[in-house]
Amino acid sequence: MFTSIKQKLTFIYILLIAIPLFMINFFAVESMQESILREIEVNALKTANIVSSISRNNIQQPLALKRSINQYMTGGGARTLVLDNVGRVMVDTSNLLENTVINNQEVRQALQMKEKLGYYQTDKYILQVAVPIIETTGDSRSAIGAVLVSVSVEEAFRTIHDFRQRLMILSVTAAFLAMMVAVFAGRSISKPIVSLSKVAKKIGEGQLGKTVSIESRDEIGQLAENFNYMSKELHRIDKGRTQFIGDVSHELKTPLASMKALIDSLLYGEDDIEVYREYLGDMDSEIDRLSALVGSLLTLTKIEETGIRKDIFSLKEMVEESVKILNPLAQKYGVEVVTMIEDTPNIICDGDRIKEVFINLIDNAMKYRDVEKAQNRVYIKGRRKKYSYEITIEDNGIGIKEEELQSIFEKFYRTDLSRSRDTGGAGIGLSIVSRVVKLHHWELEVKSKIKEGTSITIVIPNTSLKNSL
Ligand SMILES: Nc1ncnc2c1ncn2[C@@H]1O[C@H](COP(=O)(O)OP(=O)(O)OP(=O)(O)O)[C@@H](O)[C@H]1O
Ligand SMILES: [Mg+2]
Repeated sequence: MFTSIKQKLTFIYILLIAIPLFMINFFAVESMQESILREIEVNALKTANIVSSISRNNIQQPLALKRSINQYMTGGGARTLVLDNVGRVMVDTSNLLENTVINNQEVRQALQMKEKLGYYQTDKYILQVAVPIIETTGDSRSAIGAVLVSVSVEEAFRTIHDFRQRLMILSVTAAFLAMMVAVFAGRSISKPIVSLSKVAKKIGEGQLGKTVSIESRDEIGQLAENFNYMSKELHRIDKGRTQFIGDVSHELKTPLASMKALIDSLLYGEDDIEVYREYLGDMDSEIDRLSALVGSLLTLTKIEETGIRKDIFSLKEMVEESVKILNPLAQKYGVEVVTMIEDTPNIICDGDRIKEVFINLIDNAMKYRDVEKAQNRVYIKGRRKKYSYEITIEDNGIGIKEEELQSIFEKFYRTDLSRSRDTGGAGIGLSIVSRVVKLHHWELEVKSKIKEGTSITIVIPNTSLKNSL
């Protein structure tokens, strides 16, 4: 029925104001009219009864009766008629109908000993009251005449009419004001919703990051705030995705281009078998890098997709297994790996992912060794703290510049020092580390000094620890 909040509110407001107004109009006027007329009726009946008792003793002497009645009625607004038992007018305070016979319903009822009330409209509105004049002889009572009192109710009717009219004007004014308030209230509620819906449409059309202005702190204001947050987050995620695709393409392009160059030079120049062997060896390592990159990317997306699955694992075993996997690399680089785990705690975590974290950190510690040093070492230290357990992977390698420390966890980031080296990877390892640690609600701390080495600590809160084996 209604297509907007504004219309709905207007309708509800009008209904809310119309119902009580209708009730006031109807019941107030009714009860006012009743009480005014009731008072007039009571007074008229009182007058009629008094005249009736005055008339009871003087009914045979019309002149004396007329005098007494005129005396009583002085100043009264009512016209009074006294009739005998056949309806002939004996006294008329207006002196118009004397000696004429009246045979209306009031008179007939009164002569049958009943009081009768009625409203009539002649040239004006009048109330007519008829009461019998009763004579009591012994046990029997009979009507020897009737008294007819007519009172003008013109004034009372006018008062009631005026009151009704004033109330009507008041009601219409109130309804109009209510409508204005409803339109205003409807507009102030629907305006932010309309702008929200417009911006939502724009976002749907691809304009991510669009926001609405927040003008209130109520529920709609909060909705707008959350909506803006959602829009900005969508924009940020979208930008991140585009950047990620760009970075991946870039990373893939470099090894592909160098492989293409190697193949071209083999196709169009060399026929020495040794050169072939060398070039194919280069291509082999490019392919290794490519598959390592694709593998890391797949791991990263898998983590986002499936999250983590927690169970209980021995820290010592996880570290030992990671070191074992990297043993060939340690031998190749001549790096000594020293493990010192206090307490041998059990940890609630995703074992496979945490091993991946250790492998990435130990791999970096070995890869970014300082070739100028006589002995490169990697320390894996586990220490019990009051509220946590800390595991640190420390090396005496090339180190990381202070200004680069906060960037190393970004995807594809490689420091200036490592970029030139052929040991350098794609820059994905630490993003995996940071994501997995975050999913466990653990923390990472990095310390590094150029030429001295790097230490990365994972802080595992006590809530993730189980008693030692
Ligand atoms: N222990 C370390 N010592 C010195 N530099 C480090 C160390 N660990 C990480 N870095 C620097 O941080 C960068 C990012 O590390 P990350 O592990 O993410 O990437 P990567 O090792 O280059 O490649 P990937 O791990 O994906 O094979 C490295 O390229 C390197 O420059
Ligand atoms: Mg790495």
